[in-house]
Amino acid sequence: MNTIDISGDVMTDADNTRVNEPLKTSSTATVARDVRETVGDVTVSNPRMRCKSVNVYYNEKQAIKNVSLDIGRHEVVAMIGPSGCGKSTFLRCLNRMNDTIVGCRVSGEILMDGDDINGNGIDVVPLRAQVGMVFQKPNPFPKSIYENIAFGPRIHGLAKDKTELDEVVETSLKRAGLWEEVKDRLLQPGTGLSGGQQQRLCIARTIAVNPEVILMDEPCSALDPIATAIIEELIDELRQDYSIAIVTHSMQQAARVSQRTAYFHLGDLIEVGETKQVFTNPIHQLTEDYITGRFG
Ligand SMILES: Nc1ncnc2c1ncn2[C@@H]1O[C@H](COP(=O)(O)OP(=O)(O)O)[C@@H](O)[C@H]1O
Ligand SMILES: [Mg+2]
Repeated sequence: MNTIDISGDVMTDADNTRVNEPLKTSSTATVARDVRETVGDVTVSNPRMRCKSVNVYYNEKQAIKNVSLDIGRHEVVAMIGPSGCGKSTFLRCLNRMNDTIVGCRVSGEILMDGDDINGNGIDVVPLRAQVGMVFQKPNPFPKSIYENIAFGPRIHGLAKDKTELDEVVETSLKRAGLWEEVKDRLLQPGTGLSGGQQQRLCIARTIAVNPEVILMDEPCSALDPIATAIIEELIDELRQDYSIAIVTHSMQQAARVSQRTAYFHLGDLIEVGETKQVFTNPIHQLTEDYITGRFG
């Protein structure tokens, strides 16, 4: 039997973690009154990153509400949910990109191999190399293909001479599956490549500075289906070496590339689970509504 909770959501019997739970209230106006408990296990054993009770505000408006989520090693975590639910905001917490947004405030704990990335003494420059980011629109620098890759290793001091730098460029392009297509035109502008090649160039640029985690915010939404398929295959290969968190508006993509899926709704992390479970047997009514196309 389905029940209706006080906030108006239809809840299923499977959702019994919430059914008997009192609504969280607070006397402080800025704290959300309708924070939801996440359904499913947000943790993994031996995580690469661990987020605990993360809140994000843009001035007074709360965009992420008490979200806890682990990012495992060698896994792809997909973040899905309706537009505006906070996926990009949450992703940006993982390498402190929200620091660059005026009025944006992050609280809670975000641990990288046990250390708080927001702690004193953490330098964001190496952090953003360690936790790299690939954006929706490929954004190569207006420089040569070679320089696009060499730039990061050079400023991070990762190559001692030209030979080493050449090696880093070649290895990174190979790992991003682009080497064969560009090896004879390394000195030509990166912006002259096709959209899909540019996105692989951006992935190679991220790889070149030895990341541990790669964040991808809708990395294929500007690409055609063939380029998308190539990137998806690449993501699966990269999982061997990196942890990957990917935001996607494509449920098919989430199902194809990820091992775990996190469903966000209005700033809440509603449900987390193995991708197959989330798509075939969602526990929360809101997840089911989204994946069956009832809203979103
Ligand atoms: N720079 C910003 N300033 C103010 N509000 C923002 C900013 N970026 C996002 N938001 C708001 O935060 C909420 C979550 O946005 P976002 O993380 O971009 O969602 P998604 O990626 O799921 O579409 C939305 O209500 C959005 O309007
Ligand atoms: Mg977004």
